[in-house]
Amino acid sequence: MKAYRAAILRFADDQTPVYESDGLLVVGPDATGQRVVCAVGAYCALVDSFPGVAIEDLRGHIIAPGFVDLHIHYPQTDVIGAPAAGLLPWLENYTFPHEARFSDATYARGVAEFFLDELLRNGVTTALAFATSHPSSVNALFEGAQARSMRLITGKVLQDRHSPDGVRDDTEQSLIDTEALIQRWHGVARLGYAITPRFAPTSTPEQLRGAGELAARYPSVWVQSHVAENVDEVRWAAELFPLARSYLGVYDDFGLLRERAMYAHCIHLDAADRTLMQRTGAAAAVSPTSNLFLGSGFFDYAAANAADMRYGLASDVGGGTSFSPFHTMLAAYYVGREGHTKTGLSLTPGQLWWQHTAGAAQALGLAGVVGNLQPGCEADFVVLNPQATPLLARKTAQANSLDELLFALIVLGDDRVVVRTHIA
Ligand code: GUN
Ligand code: ZN
Repeated sequence: MKAYRAAILRFADDQTPVYESDGLLVVGPDATGQRVVCAVGAYCALVDSFPGVAIEDLRGHIIAPGFVDLHIHYPQTDVIGAPAAGLLPWLENYTFPHEARFSDATYARGVAEFFLDELLRNGVTTALAFATSHPSSVNALFEGAQARSMRLITGKVLQDRHSPDGVRDDTEQSLIDTEALIQRWHGVARLGYAITPRFAPTSTPEQLRGAGELAARYPSVWVQSHVAENVDEVRWAAELFPLARSYLGVYDDFGLLRERAMYAHCIHLDAADRTLMQRTGAAAAVSPTSNLFLGSGFFDYAAANAADMRYGLASDVGGGTSFSPFHTMLAAYYVGREGHTKTGLSLTPGQLWWQHTAGAAQALGLAGVVGNLQPGCEADFVVLNPQATPLLARKTAQANSLDELLFALIVLGDDRVVVRTHIA
């Protein structure tokens, strides 16, 4: 066992942030050997219960749950900031040509190593990530995550049409490869597999049907895709699937909406789509820096809440512009404000933080496993320095409430705030 003394941020079951200004976090192995939170609370209330346990003094710092990124593309690490008129030209001119390079396993391994280190440097301890259509790109990321003991979920991208040579896969082989990767990696150490159709326009109905069959055969496996991000994309999906009720309905028709299914963006949905999300247990990965960068639109928080739909935050690097959860939370706040002018909703700093930690974990079906620091949670946490920059030090010293403290970190924070990231 080991204990850490610092201010501690965690979340109650009702999603509200709980803050101990002088807290103690005690971690140790559970029955399986996994390192978990054994106890957490006020230092003075807990310290006598753990005699002999070494305590590291981190006073002046804040311990918080590791961040959970619900949607990120590791092969797009070097695509960040590529200018384009919108999603479809961005994919055609930058993303697909770049992803073709991941047929080279050595190249993929190099990017995977950089990507995982960059996640950890930014305080992200769990990610649901796209690889590319090349199975070796999946192996590269899983191997790197396993070496770091990270909880990471990824999968081979399925895209058997409307994709250039170099990334387009073969329908039958793509499904054989997916099943082989599930059997090799899903549930190994802290790793999980996600069946990953890129988006409906780049998969044939046969490939989507096969993906849905695998999703039914392996219920603990995740599903990830994109939906309703951009108006041109929505129009294209309607042309390709004229019988579907909506773009989201395409995924429903092929059995791809269920618990553990994560759909990036979910901007241009209607009320029936949101009800379908809620009814099936599928969740939205809200990706505000990407949506602002590519000019895709604004996630409608009020409508999502009205439908009781699950969602959480995501960077969507490389459409997204930053690995930093602080940047993502601030962009989500801007997007919420945009909604505010129409619907009267404004996000609190506690809600933003929850959406990138415990709420994101809940959307993944991992509530109580990651994203929080309640007893039993896996011991993934960050040590934050509220004085990381002169302006942050000045601003956080003047905070009169938890909301003011968290908001200062969200507005002014970035990787400089993350002093250390602890994995398990
Ligand atoms: N839709 C299909 N592929 C992608 C992608 O790589 N990024 C984003 N943002 N949207 C997509
Ligand atoms: Zn994406």
